[in-house]
Amino acid sequence: MSNDTLHFLKAQMRDIVGGYKLDVPACPIKLNQNENPYDWPASLKQAVFERVRDLPWNRYPPFVPSDFVAVVAKYLGVDPAQVLVGNGSNELMYSVFATVLEPGRKAVVTQPTFTLYSLLAKLFGATVESINLDAEMRFDAPKLQAAAKDASLVVIASPNNPTGSVIDPMDLEHMVASSPALFVIDEAYFDFHGETALELTRTYRNVVVLRTFSKAFATAGLRFGLMVAHKEALPFFATAKLPYNLNIFTMAAVETAIEHASTLKNRLDEIKRERERVMRELKARKGIKVFPSRSNFFIFETDRAPRKLWQSMVKKGVLVRDVSGYPMLSKALRVTIGRPEENDAFLKALEFAMVDNGPAT
Ligand SMILES: Cc1ncc(COP(=O)(O)O)c(C=O)c1O
Repeated sequence: MSNDTLHFLKAQMRDIVGGYKLDVPACPIKLNQNENPYDWPASLKQAVFERVRDLPWNRYPPFVPSDFVAVVAKYLGVDPAQVLVGNGSNELMYSVFATVLEPGRKAVVTQPTFTLYSLLAKLFGATVESINLDAEMRFDAPKLQAAAKDASLVVIASPNNPTGSVIDPMDLEHMVASSPALFVIDEAYFDFHGETALELTRTYRNVVVLRTFSKAFATAGLRFGLMVAHKEALPFFATAKLPYNLNIFTMAAVETAIEHASTLKNRLDEIKRERERVMRELKARKGIKVFPSRSNFFIFETDRAPRKLWQSMVKKGVLVRDVSGYPMLSKALRVTIGRPEENDAFLKALEFAMVDNGPAT
């Protein structure tokens, strides 16, 4: 059917058709989605099954899961009235954007960054202004601040995906204090970096912090994310969220995850050490530029065509992310840090791919 017959579509759907896409060929070594390479131990999975077995599956979960929210808030060290929980942080991002954006309003995103931000902003009819990172992939605070002046929403991922860059906390507070826009700080990779904007949500009504359990907590398959905002702003974001968005299984798993946080996160130091090792190895090779990262992934540029390198690595069973379609990253690929043996396989596959694709032209 031709699009011309789809009269019911709102105008912006023509620009964003296709949405958020991902090419995922089956590869034994999966380093393309910034996941934690270590699954939950069987004993912890069993603890979740046991928790869920005795719950009534025929009943809805509580309308507001206050006990669950209290557990999450305690873990974060914030007031439960500041916390909203969701089926992945993407869902909460959607609620925030729905609350703030409409045609005639402006959202500011940094570039390159997580694709979903500008897609969602456009879905709600807003215009999107992109502020590029500098050549070393650092945030440009003065430019962001200037763009924020007439914006309704500013989104900053820190650490940023796909670059691993982080925002300076003083720059951030300065921007938040001097702009009426809502600042959404996406801390999906917080645990790899350790700096947070949570404190700002106590005083500033225009700050939202998003976190996910998909990365450091190794819980991507279960879908859990959370939002922390000022007490007076939170009820509005909650209104834009669907009822019963969290299922009892996820809640049981997250309670188990929090009780066993140190077990689930005990590989983070190893992952950070591995990141430094893999970066060192690449830096020693000719024709590769590595960008610093404070997360469990990093980007690198080469003098070969990134898509071809990506394909050659897939042939060797190693899947990284081709980010060459992102603004500023036409020469780049992104690799997630895996287990040591997976990282070795990546290093070998890249060496093969560089040879397979001949010298730079
Ligand atoms: C910056 C950033 N935010 C959010 C997400 C998605 O998080 P969730 O799995 O909680 O929806 C990702 C996933 O890759 C991400 O990179």
